[in-house]
This record gives sequence, structure tokens and C-alpha cells, in this order.
Amino acid sequence: CMRIIVDADPGIDDALALYYLRAQPDTEIVAIGTVHGNVPVEVATANALRLTERLNIEAPVAVGAAKPLAQPLMTAENVHGEDGLGGCAGDDPTTSCTSESAAEQLANRARQEPGELSLLAIGPLTNVALALQIEPRLPQLLDKVVVMGGALNVPGNITSYAEANFWHDPEAADLVLGAGFEDLTIVGLDVTMASHAPGEWLEALPHESYARQFLRFYADFYESFLGKAGFVPHDPLAAAIMLQPHLATYVEDRFAIELTGRYTRGAIVADRRFLAEGSPFGRDIGTERTKAKYAVTADKDAFLDQL
Ligand code: BDR
Ligand code: CA
Repeated sequence: CMRIIVDADPGIDDALALYYLRAQPDTEIVAIGTVHGNVPVEVATANALRLTERLNIEAPVAVGAAKPLAQPLMTAENVHGEDGLGGCAGDDPTTSCTSESAAEQLANRARQEPGELSLLAIGPLTNVALALQIEPRLPQLLDKVVVMGGALNVPGNITSYAEANFWHDPEAADLVLGAGFEDLTIVGLDVTMASHAPGEWLEALPHESYARQFLRFYADFYESFLGKAGFVPHDPLAAAIMLQPHLATYVEDRFAIELTGRYTRGAIVADRRFLAEGSPFGRDIGTERTKAKYAVTADKDAFLDQL
């Protein structure tokens, strides 16, 4: 059984990722942490609570970071709606959060069950970076880590080079990619944009279903700029690849996040050097970074069937 801590900014595709995980056999969501990103953290937290109630997920929800480590808060209501669920969030949740912060929850749970828990991070990485400050052994304490973020060989979705989750907190993302996680997989736009769910997928959902309602707003956004019906299931694909790594192929490399580029802040960069390390002409990504797997192709049909 895979036991997962989810760190998320729900967010429409985050919500769909929770649906996906909830439906999988041998999979347990043990805790949820919320973070700023698609919407302010209070809005994301209310949605996480609503979803745990609606989907009968018996996991504590902890409130996470309200802002990035080193830049102002920026949100994406144009993609996810003011309420983060396309105007369909509905009634206030009836349950409440734990007293720990999301970073404390992550650090504490990892300490309590060393090697037993995996992390799926589908929002900006602020909480994970803060948890590393609380517990520097986090990379040794967690089993598998899957992060949704990055645009390595394709354009970004915020700037030409930066994908939203990394752009929302570049410093945090860079800390996490350099922290030494042994089993780290990055699921970026290279595979998510190529896994577009067509209009027929949406139409196959029951008319009155909550998911169909909240996906409408998100699909309208994607339709307006892609010019075709449907939507891009970023976070659900990361969840699927976490449970079934064979759904994707990968490049293995060392990765960092560009923090100072005038046009490229928030971009993921790969080591890619083919000479022995230590070029005299510029700065390489340090070999002290452990390698991660970056997904470059995914089995879209198998994934969309499951979803
Ligand atoms: C990522 O950014 C957010 O809009 C989505 O929830 C996803 O995690 C895609 O770039
Ligand atoms: Ca997300």
C-alpha cells in the first residue's frame, strides 16, 4: 500500500487529483497540507476540507504557507475561479484543520514513520522547503517524492520558461530539488500538456456531478487559449505517475531552478553537461545535487482511461 502525504493548492486539477487518488486501490492519503498558489491559502484550505468531506478522505488537513519564501503572493483565479473551484465550491466545510502547520505536519509525520510515507507535491513547494528547515533529514525520512512542476523542453505556462508551481516560489523549488531526495520524480508540462483531456472525456461525466461542475470553468479557460474543447489534467497525471511509474519515461539528471534570470526566473534547468564537470566558462549545476527523474513522455491513453 502506498501511503501518501499530499501537498496541494486546490485548485481544480488538484481537486481532480484527490478524486483520482481516493479511487485507487492500495493507496492511502494520510495527510493533506495546503499552500498558496492557485488561490490564497485560506481558500485552498477550505477546498481541501470540502474535498475530504465529500470524498470521505480520513486525513487531517493542515494549513500551509500563505506566501512564497522570497517574493510577493501571486495567484491564478483566472484559471481556477475566485473560490478555487470554478465558482462551484459551495457550502463552507463543516470540519476544521489540525493545529500544526503543513510544514510541521510533513516533518512530524515523516519522523514518526521513517521510510514509510511518500510525498505528492502538486502546488508551489513552500511547505516542503519549510519542512526541510524543521527537519533536515526529511530526504532520508520520506520514501518517494513526486513533484508537479517545470517546463524543461516545452514553453512555460506563466512565462516562456517558467511553469506555475515553480514560478510561484522559485527559491522553495530550488531548495527542494537540491535537498538530496533519493527518489524524486518531476512531472512537468512536457507530459501534462501532451495529456490533454478532450471534450468527450468531460461529457462522459454524469451531468450533476461535482467534478463536472468545477471542471467547466477550468475547461473554459483551456479552451479559450488552446482552441479545442477539454482541459489539461496536470496534477492528476502527477498522481498517476506516482502510483504507476511505468506510465512515463524519464531523463535522469541534476536539476536546479533559475533564480536570477531576467526572462527566465522560475525556469527548471538540467545539468546536461557532456564534458567532465567543472567547465571554466560558466557555472555547472553542482554534483552535490542528487539526480532526479524528469518525465518526458507519458502514456496519455492509459492515463485518461483510468482518470
Ligand atoms: C500547476 O499549476 C496549477 O495551476 C495547477 O494546479 C498545477 O499544479 C500547473 O502548472
Ligand atoms: Ca496544483
